[in-house]
Amino acid sequence: MRKQIAAANWKMNLTYQEAETLLHQVVKNIPKLEDQQHVVFAVPAPYLDLAQDEIAPKYQVYTAAQNVYTKKSGAYTGEISVIMLNSLGVDHAIIGHSERREYFNESNEMLAEKVQVCLENNITPIFCCGEALQVREENKQNEYVAKQLEESLFRLPADQLQKVVIAYEPIWAIGTGKTATSEQAQEMHAHIRNHIAKTYGLNVANEISILYGGSVKGANAKEIFGQPDVDGGLVGGASLNAEEFLQIIKALK
Ligand code: PGA
Repeated sequence: MRKQIAAANWKMNLTYQEAETLLHQVVKNIPKLEDQQHVVFAVPAPYLDLAQDEIAPKYQVYTAAQNVYTKKSGAYTGEISVIMLNSLGVDHAIIGHSERREYFNESNEMLAEKVQVCLENNITPIFCCGEALQVREENKQNEYVAKQLEESLFRLPADQLQKVVIAYEPIWAIGTGKTATSEQAQEMHAHIRNHIAKTYGLNVANEISILYGGSVKGANAKEIFGQPDVDGGLVGGASLNAEEFLQIIKALK
């Protein structure tokens, strides 16, 4: 079975002390995970070491950076490299979140490089895609997301692509309380999987975990994750609350 993943994206929130408390509350209460179930904490970079310590006793629980730079080291003040993540034991990174695309001008081209540098250095990229409201209103979401995938992922050989986790996050559903319906999520996830299958074959497509993101909460996780092509979620706001995030973890298939 494909990996089923509950990934917390804390974004730029919490103090160190708050982060420690929240990690503690969640980690100690994570139920026994089935083989295919994984939990990931994408915490702000200054807290990655702390998060590594907190998750240490748990199996199938991982940390993630929220971004990495395309280069491995050098004069790039303020950036975070995959080598640094390796040295901390951090094994995942969110790549191309819509907030990075919008506020930091990250292009599909640049994200292709980021995915590549992650894969070359044993970091699992959680590659985000998804359309803005206007694109959906024009009913062009399928072409839009297909282009994001093609330009950032489709140069990878099959064995590399298979290591990527995809997160479909419609921008109109992020932080708005407006979740895509489970039908809308399933429809897009099936489209993403079919699109991969057309280029790489069904076997490869069926191996790739596709997470849904956008106002996932304890109350709606079960229904969304229950869809056949939804393999868990990338969770912002609700991951800042221990009870909510635990409920989301319990909703994994
Ligand atoms: P949200 O954010 O759950 O607060 O909508 C999801 C995300 O941006 O990853």
